[in-house]
Order: sequence, then structure tokens, then C-alpha cells
Amino acid sequence: MEIVLATRNRKKSEELQRILAGADVTVLTLNDFPDCPEVVEDKDTFEGNAIKKASEVASYTGRVAVADDSGLEVYALGNAPGVFSARYAGENADDEKNIRKLLDEMKDIEPAKRGARFVCCIAFAQPNHQTKTFLGFVEGVIGTEVRGSGGFGYDPVFYPLNSSKTFAEITPKEKDEVSHRKKALEGWGDYLKKTYFSKT
Ligand code: IMP
Repeated sequence: MEIVLATRNRKKSEELQRILAGADVTVLTLNDFPDCPEVVEDKDTFEGNAIKKASEVASYTGRVAVADDSGLEVYALGNAPGVFSARYAGENADDEKNIRKLLDEMKDIEPAKRGARFVCCIAFAQPNHQTKTFLGFVEGVIGTEVRGSGGFGYDPVFYPLNSSKTFAEITPKEKDEVSHRKKALEGWGDYLKKTYFSKT
């Protein structure tokens, strides 16, 4: 079975491919479809954006497509940055600017109130427009300074619960074991096994 991962983010697709390793699927990415139009992420939920991305890519490629939409929810900030995680500091923001803005917004928030979670929604879409979504979460705490150089996005300020290391200080394999993306993918993997692979 061929699956198109609806992302051009190299680190994200590497994470997804590592997690899918061993499954009986051929993984393609949007880099295999360079002319596929960019999907505008304009929905106000992770589910809405993931479904939109997966559906448009499935229609364009004529193949099963999988998209994820993910982000960070900080409870003391009313769940911001949420669906705006990638562009929290503005349209041309990068990881460094987003983190700087987050730490600034949280500078007066005491340690006990710095709880947050990463959320991932995986949407699975078929060219016939049928869709299904799977959610995954990882709970943690936002630190007060950047630590570590691995990962991407908000990893250098995110401590998963009961850990003294940020996501940027652990190995990719350690992150995969607990990540929101892994949990959402597991839901999708179980669904695939039941719905497709049990019949072959
Ligand atoms: P999107 O899912 O590509 O729309 O963007 C998600 C944004 O949320 C990323 O650009 C990161 O800023 C943030 N994010 C999502 N997952 C992670 C993660 O595993 N680590 C750090 N940041 C993440």
C-alpha cells in the first residue's frame, strides 16, 4: 500500500517514517509531488487542519494521504499558541522567535502553573473523500530557558512530565516513545491493521 505523507517538513516526515518503519507500506511525501498545491491551514482546530490537508492531498495524488496537524497548548495562556504554534511570533516566524515570544509571555508565570501539552491530530484520507482522525497528547511543563539542541519547534523548552530533560535533550528514539505524534500514529496504525491488513 502506498501512503503519501502530506508534509514538506523534513524532520516531521523523518519522525513519521521512523515510527512507520516495519509496516507494510511504501511511504511517499510531498517531495514526490512537487507540483501539489500548498494547503492553507486556516481552520481553528487541529482536526480541521489535518482533515483539510489530508483530503486535498488525497484528491490531488489519487492515493491515500495522511496529514498531521500539531502544536503546543499552554494552559496558563488559554491553550495558546495552539493551532498558531508554527507562526506564534508572526507569519515569518522561526522556531527561535516563537520560543522567545513564548518565554516572554510566560515570564511572570510561576513554576507550578507552567503546564502544557503537545497535541497531534493525524487525519487519514482516501481519494473517495472518506476521512478518519486520531489524536495523541504528551503532557509536560514549559521551562524558563532554552535547553538542548535536538528536535525542532518548542522542544528546547518542553519538559515531558517527570523528566529533567527537555525534548531537545533526549534522543529521537526516546522522544518517539512518548511523543504526541507517536500516540496519534498508534491509533491510526491500529485502525489500518483492523481495516486493511487483516483482509490481506
Ligand atoms: P504544523 O503541525 O506543521 O502546523 O505545525 C506545528 C508547530 O507546532 C511546529 O512548527 C512546532 O512549532 C510545534 N510542534 C509540533 N510538534 C512539535 C514537537 O514535537 N516538538 C516541538 N514543537 C512541535
